[in-house]
Amino acid sequence: MCGIVAYIGHREACPIILKGLRRLEYRGYDSAGVALLTGELTVYKKKGKVQDLENFIGGRNTHAHIGMGHTRWATHGEPNDSNAHPHYSTSERIAIIHNGIIENYAALKTHLQKQGHVFHSDTDTEVFVNLIEEIQTQNSCTLEEAVRLALHEVIGAYAIVVLSRDEPNQLIAARKGSPLVIGVGQDEFFLASDATPIIEYTNEVVYVNDYEIAVIRDNKLEIRTREDVKQTPYIQKLELELESIEKGGYEHFMLKEIFEQPRSILDSMRGRLELEAGHLNMGGVRAYEQKFVNAQRIIIVACGTSWHAGLVAEYLLEDLARIPVEVEYASEFRYRNPVITERDIVIAISQSGETADTLAAIEMAKSKGATIFGICNVVGSSIARATDAGAYTHAGPEIGVASTKAFTAQVTVLTLLAMIVGHKRGTLSETKLRELMVELSNIPAKVEQALTLDAEIQVIAEEFKDVTNFLYLGRGYNFPVALEGALKLKEISYIHAEGYPAAEMKHGPIALIDENMPVVVIATKDSSYEKVVSNIQEVKARKGRIIAVVTEGDDVIPAMAEFVIEVPATSEVLMPLVSVVPLQLLSYHIAVLRGCNVDQPRNLAKSVTVE
Ligand code: G6P
Repeated sequence: MCGIVAYIGHREACPIILKGLRRLEYRGYDSAGVALLTGELTVYKKKGKVQDLENFIGGRNTHAHIGMGHTRWATHGEPNDSNAHPHYSTSERIAIIHNGIIENYAALKTHLQKQGHVFHSDTDTEVFVNLIEEIQTQNSCTLEEAVRLALHEVIGAYAIVVLSRDEPNQLIAARKGSPLVIGVGQDEFFLASDATPIIEYTNEVVYVNDYEIAVIRDNKLEIRTREDVKQTPYIQKLELELESIEKGGYEHFMLKEIFEQPRSILDSMRGRLELEAGHLNMGGVRAYEQKFVNAQRIIIVACGTSWHAGLVAEYLLEDLARIPVEVEYASEFRYRNPVITERDIVIAISQSGETADTLAAIEMAKSKGATIFGICNVVGSSIARATDAGAYTHAGPEIGVASTKAFTAQVTVLTLLAMIVGHKRGTLSETKLRELMVELSNIPAKVEQALTLDAEIQVIAEEFKDVTNFLYLGRGYNFPVALEGALKLKEISYIHAEGYPAAEMKHGPIALIDENMPVVVIATKDSSYEKVVSNIQEVKARKGRIIAVVTEGDDVIPAMAEFVIEVPATSEVLMPLVSVVPLQLLSYHIAVLRGCNVDQPRNLAKSVTVE
C-alpha cells in the first residue's frame, strides 16, 4: 500500500528513484511523484503509473544527488495530480512522502488552517508536512527536531521521508506501522518500503523499527527513538537475488510466479522434509512444540489469499493433529471481543508480513496471552518480527498482485506443521506420516505436470472470456481451492465469480445456473468424490456449463463435463497444492484475453498496510 523510495549519495538520484518506484509499483499505482534537491526543492508528480511520471519529467531538470519518490494507492482523496506525493509544506521549504494513514488528520488540519497553512490536496499527508513546518517555525528548531516533535502528535501509521530546502544535505525518515528499509552502500544510502529497489546496489540493510527516526547526513546514518535515545543500527545481509524480482522472459510476473511453483514449493520444504532420514524439521516450531501439543485450540488469522491458505490449514490441523481450529478474517477478529486464552495458539499467515489488519489482530491476541506463530514470505517483515515464533515460506519475492506461489508455499508450510504436530500428538501414525512425506516430496513434480496443461487451459479461457459470471465449486480440501479460484478470477479479470462448497450450492446459487453459467467444479478423487459427481449432475440438469478439474484417468466425469482438466493424483490432504494450479492459469489467460492489466489490477494493491 504505497511504495516509498529515497536516495542520498554520489550518483544521480532520479534514475535510481524511478527504477525503485517501478519495483515498488505492485504496492500501488494510482499516481507517482519525486522530490529532488536540485538546488531548489523540486517536486514532479502525476496521476497514473510510474511511466506517466517519467513521460512528464522527460527533459526537465532532475540533476540531484538527494531525492525521494512515491507510488500511491489512494486512501484520502481520489487519484489525481494534486493528491499525488510528494507533498510540499505551505512555504514549499519542506516536502514529504508517506505510506500509511494519519487518523487524527482532520483535527490537525483545522488547527493548521487557523495558523495560516494552505492545503492543495485532500490527503492526510499534506497535514503531516505542514505540522512539521508549523512546529519548526514555532520552535525555531532543526528539521530533525521538528519531525521528532510532530511524531508525538500524529496518530496512525506511517513510513515517511522528509526533505528540506534549507537543510539540503540530509534525508530524514521515520516509521510506525508501515515498513521501511535502509540500504547501506559505499558512501550512499537507499531507503525503501521493501528491499527490492535496493538489492542491485547493496545487500547490507537496516530495518527501521517502529518509533525510530533515521537521519542520514554527512555520509552517516544515525538512528534515534522518538524519545531521542540513540540506537545502534543493526546491519543485516540480505539474501535476495536480483533475478528473482525481474520477469525473466515471462510476459507477466503472475505467469512467472505460477510457473515458479515447482521450485518455490520445493524451497518451502527445503531442510524441513528429510525423506531419507525420515524426519521433519522446522526450526521455528521446535521451541514451541510442547505448546502445540497441548494447544486447546488454534486460531488462524489472515486476509485474502492467505485466509484461503488458512482454511486449508483448518482441514489439515483438524484431520492430522486433531486440534480444533478456527479461521478468522483478521479484520473481523480484531474488532470482536473474541475469547482467547493462554492455551490458544494464534497462527498469522501473510505473504507480505505487512497487512495492517493481520498485524493488529496479532497485537490483540498477544495482549490476551496467546502464543503467536507467524507464517510469512517476506523476511524481516513487521509480522515476522511481531510474532513469538514462526516459519518463512521461502517462496521468493511475489510481485504480481494476485497471489499464486505464496499460496502454495503457505499451504506447504502449514502441511508440514500439521504433520509435525500430528505426529507429536500421536494422532498421525508413523506409517501415515511416512506416506505423506513421500507424497509431499512428489508434489513439485506433480505441479510441474499440472503446468503442462497451460495450452489446454488457454482454449478454455478463449471460450469463456466474455462471460459475466462464474461459479466455482469444491468440497473438503478442495473447497478453499474453489474460493481461491474465484478470487483469482475476480481480482484480475473483473468477472464476477463466487466460490461455494459444492453441496451448499443447492441452498442458493443453484438459482443462478442456466445455459450461460460456467461452473468450475474441482472434482478430484477423494472421500467426497461421489457426492461431487452428484453435484455436477445437479448443475448439468440445469444446463450449466461444466469445467471439471479431475484426477488423471477419471472415466466418469468427462462424460458429463464440457471441458475436463486432468491433474495428477495425489493424497486428498495434498490436493490443493495441485488443483489450484489450473485455476490460477485459467484466471490468468482470461484476464490477458480481456486485455486486463494482470500484474496491476485496478483498485488493488499487493500489500495492504491500511486498516
Ligand atoms: C491483498 C493482496 C492479496 C493478499 C492479501 C493479504 O489484498 O492483493 O493478494 O492475499 O492482501 O496479504 P498478505 O500479504 O497478508 O498475505
